[in-house]
Amino acid sequence: MAGTYRIAVLPGDGTGPEVTVEAVKVLKAVAARNGFALDLHEYDFGGERYKRTGEVLPDAAVEELGGFDAILLGAIGHPDVEPGILEKGILLKLRFALDQYINLRPVKLYPGADTPLKDKGPEDIDFVVVRENTEGLYCGVGGFLRKGTPDEVAVQEMVATRKGVERCIRYAFDFTRKRDKQKTLTMCGKTNVLTYAQDLWWRCFQEVAEEYPDIKPDYAHVDATCMWMVKNPEWFDVIVTNNMFGDIITDLGAMVQGGMGIAAGGNINPEGVSMFEPIGGSAPKYTGKNVINPLAAICAGGMMLDVLGETEAAQQVENAVIKVVSEKLESLSARRMGYSTTEVGDMVADFAGSI
Ligand code: IPM
Ligand code: MN
Repeated sequence: MAGTYRIAVLPGDGTGPEVTVEAVKVLKAVAARNGFALDLHEYDFGGERYKRTGEVLPDAAVEELGGFDAILLGAIGHPDVEPGILEKGILLKLRFALDQYINLRPVKLYPGADTPLKDKGPEDIDFVVVRENTEGLYCGVGGFLRKGTPDEVAVQEMVATRKGVERCIRYAFDFTRKRDKQKTLTMCGKTNVLTYAQDLWWRCFQEVAEEYPDIKPDYAHVDATCMWMVKNPEWFDVIVTNNMFGDIITDLGAMVQGGMGIAAGGNINPEGVSMFEPIGGSAPKYTGKNVINPLAAICAGGMMLDVLGETEAAQQVENAVIKVVSEKLESLSARRMGYSTTEVGDMVADFAGSI
């Protein structure tokens, strides 16, 4: 009998709780099958708690969450809470405090899923974005001068540290090697304009590439990356990029792989505690209707198992998702799946526990 994993579950806002329940259902099914146990601890951080108590995410909670084996997050964002408070106070706070310096976002079109890209299929759309997750424009460095006057100045700085960039690039090279597909790592940047931060990235990328002779280093500007992701997604194997570019191109990636209903991500600290989440938001308009697609949350759970070392169980989750997408669902979009949120979760759990 393998061990027990202590998992913190933060269902969060909107449809977060609904999709999280389904992810947990699937995790329990594969845990039973593979002989490991899950010790789940639920936390109610999010918009409702903030409105009720004024508390977003206290430091003591961050410390507590840092003591788990992994964190599973539903969604953050509440229509009655000013934008930024929960995102910065929960999601970004955890990413930074737990030093989850990689945001891993697979872009994979499963058979049977619709992509808006004409004449592209599962064999063309299968790449992974490694997004730096603790630096760049997300550090909150900057400020105002003469705020609210006609002479106002606002500065928001892009931070790149050698250490932060190098660990991300190394992770990406290692990941490309382990993935063993096209063995190509594309740096997505903007070296022609951001001549300081991106110069550091580019030099670091070239230097680290020397240590990976089996991996082909490639480069594309971020604007061109968007173009190729639509026109020739098959060119990509692994993409490494900074925080802001990674945020933007992975929403494009999510659409290319069939929508937010299927797009999952992992905030990874390879030496610490990682957090897994569907990359879409809290979808307030679908809340409580049992129509949201839980597959992104389920896939996030699968990624969590992979990072915890339960690779077989992770594969079972993916196989089950593929089966449900290709044989059951009419669409990956909310309301149009042909099944309810609960039914989709049941089907995946059933297959994941048996096939
Ligand atoms: C994401 C989200 C977050 C980000 C927001 C909610 C802060 O868009 O995970 O991609 O910008 O990183
Ligand atoms: Mn985003």
